[in-house]
Amino acid sequence: LFEQNQAKIKSLKDLDQLNQTRVELLGKKGPITEVLRGMKDLDANERPKVGAFANKIKDDLQASIQERKHDLEQAVINQKLAEETLDVTLPGDAVVAGTPHILAQIMDDIEEFFIGQGYQVIDGPEVEEDHYNFEMLNIPKNHPARDMQDTFYIDDQLLMRSQTSPVQARTLEVHDFSKGPLKMISPGRVYRRDTDDATHSHQFHQVEGLVIDKHITMADLKGTLLALAQHVFGADRKIRLRPSFFPFTEPSVEVDVSCFRCNGAGCAICKYSGWIEVLGAGMVHPNVLTAAGVDAHVYGGFAFGLGPDRFAMLKYGIDDIRSFYQGDQRFLSQFQQEG
Ligand code: PHE
Repeated sequence: LFEQNQAKIKSLKDLDQLNQTRVELLGKKGPITEVLRGMKDLDANERPKVGAFANKIKDDLQASIQERKHDLEQAVINQKLAEETLDVTLPGDAVVAGTPHILAQIMDDIEEFFIGQGYQVIDGPEVEEDHYNFEMLNIPKNHPARDMQDTFYIDDQLLMRSQTSPVQARTLEVHDFSKGPLKMISPGRVYRRDTDDATHSHQFHQVEGLVIDKHITMADLKGTLLALAQHVFGADRKIRLRPSFFPFTEPSVEVDVSCFRCNGAGCAICKYSGWIEVLGAGMVHPNVLTAAGVDAHVYGGFAFGLGPDRFAMLKYGIDDIRSFYQGDQRFLSQFQQEG
């Protein structure tokens, strides 16, 4: 009985079968129980022998069932482990990290530069009052200078700001000069009624700058802009100021940077002049100070407005301003920020 069944037990392939066999062999209806139950019919001197023999077989069968059970359980575990193995040497899926938009990078860089020079960064509304966008900046209603900047009107008082200069007027109104000079920049979006093409966009960006104190001169403006140009475009840049006109500055200038997209004067981007226009600036018009309640006989200073879109186009040789606003990853991913 033992030998025959031991072979059988060893050949069983799963735990259910094993359990079934255990019940058949050792259970209440199994042969061993039957033998033990039949003991009462045996001679008294036969009983110990038969009893011992039956119990030994019972123990041996139990032991081999236990052994088989252990083996089968181990096999189940091993199979599971084999199925769940990870091949850590397989190449993973690349995780593409996002990066700040190229315009955000340029604007952050410009902000860092001015913060380092002690400027505050001030926000202003994109939906602006005609009052701040034009009138406080020495551009009365029906003044021809309004033609320079046609914008989108919400109603006859409200418009999409056409420049960041209204933040100058708003800040001048509230600045307390008894606490010190005013040095601010204001980055943000502006709007113009232009038809979009490679060099025009109905929406673009500006960074406004304003410095007002008691003894600010045009040399301060020039030094500031030279440092900025060298920071953004390279240490060996020069700048040049050309006379220009803005209603809110007098004198007004347009600022050129020495050409860096080509050697010498010979390229179209620099209009074959060796210089490339990058921003507008000037000394703040007394009317602007007076309108904001600042004493123009005591205080004065400079203002400038630059276009980060244009800065980025010049710096990286981007030839279509619309690229900034189309969200095309093939364009944007070329400007992955390091670190
Ligand atoms: N606001 C002017 C523009 O959008 C730029 C500018 C700002 C000029 C400040 C002078 C001083 O064209």
